[in-house]
Amino acid sequence: MNPIIQRLVKEDLERVEIQFKKNLESDVGLISKIGEHLLDSGGKRFRPMILILSTKLCGYEGERHIPLASVIEFIHTASLLHDDVVDDAELRRGNTSANALWGSEASVLVGDFLFSKSFSLMVRDGDLRILQVISDAATQLAEGEMQELINTSDLSLAEDRYIWIITRKTAALISAACQIGAILGGVDREKETSLGDFGLNLGIAFQLVDDTLDYVSDEKEFGKTIGIDLRDGKMTLPLIHALQKCTPEERSKLEDVLFSDTITHRDFLRVTEIIDRYGGTDYAIERAKSYVERAKNHLMNFDPSDAKTAILALADYVIDRKS
Ligand code: FPP
Ligand code: MG
Repeated sequence: MNPIIQRLVKEDLERVEIQFKKNLESDVGLISKIGEHLLDSGGKRFRPMILILSTKLCGYEGERHIPLASVIEFIHTASLLHDDVVDDAELRRGNTSANALWGSEASVLVGDFLFSKSFSLMVRDGDLRILQVISDAATQLAEGEMQELINTSDLSLAEDRYIWIITRKTAALISAACQIGAILGGVDREKETSLGDFGLNLGIAFQLVDDTLDYVSDEKEFGKTIGIDLRDGKMTLPLIHALQKCTPEERSKLEDVLFSDTITHRDFLRVTEIIDRYGGTDYAIERAKSYVERAKNHLMNFDPSDAKTAILALADYVIDRKS
């Protein structure tokens, strides 16, 4: 991690981790156990980090960002527990996923616990605008995830509809984390909107890179099984791009794989070969880079500071990340 980011967030992140532990306490021991399984497994803490850096960028010096950063990570964790059930995933953050270990039912219910806990923590904070921003983001998460499900194996899904989906399922929460930093810092509405737009564009880039890594990453480094998107019939940009360019014969090969019940490693290689032929992953990374540039432009009206340097470095990390 970049040393400036590290210096600015380290202490606060440690306090956020303590909050996690406290907020996971429950009379039902299995809830804490499953919650800890995911929270202790070395997530990047990207969302808490960006919330903390946003508060610093906006000159906030209070304490409320610690529980609120924990709320954002709790909502994210709840959504991952649910998402791994939807995707039937076996690996998460390099560990066996919660659904594979304890079953889908327990995963969904612990997700519900984390989600509900987040709302009680927000009520404790007491800021109705923050409550509104986070509730709106959570609603969008569900809409994005649902639309993605509806478009399973939909070969006609266009790039703009795919961007619509990832804007909701991923970028909305990252944007909310940034906007909360602005609200806490008490900056004017123009800057608040700029910071929200920064987060939204960065979040789109974040998911574009995630979807590319699902085709090309080193599984150990990625911490998730690769090829899951294809297996689940998820239409992501590398594939959408290839489908737009390929021959009718190649399209029918892709169709066969997308609609088959089981996908072998050979099928996966056949698909990646077609994607590579049309530069599908390179195209997705180029799009991600352009969203990162758009994100950075939204910070133009913020004066230079260490926090600004750090948050811009975090934006670059989104492209460079391997997990
Ligand atoms: C990961 O996508 C999933 C999300 C970013 C959002 C999941 C949202 C929900 C399950 C609905 C809302 C739930 C709550 C609790 C508000 P991915 O499958 O592309 O990423 P992955 O490769 O990390 O699994
Ligand atoms: Mg998933």
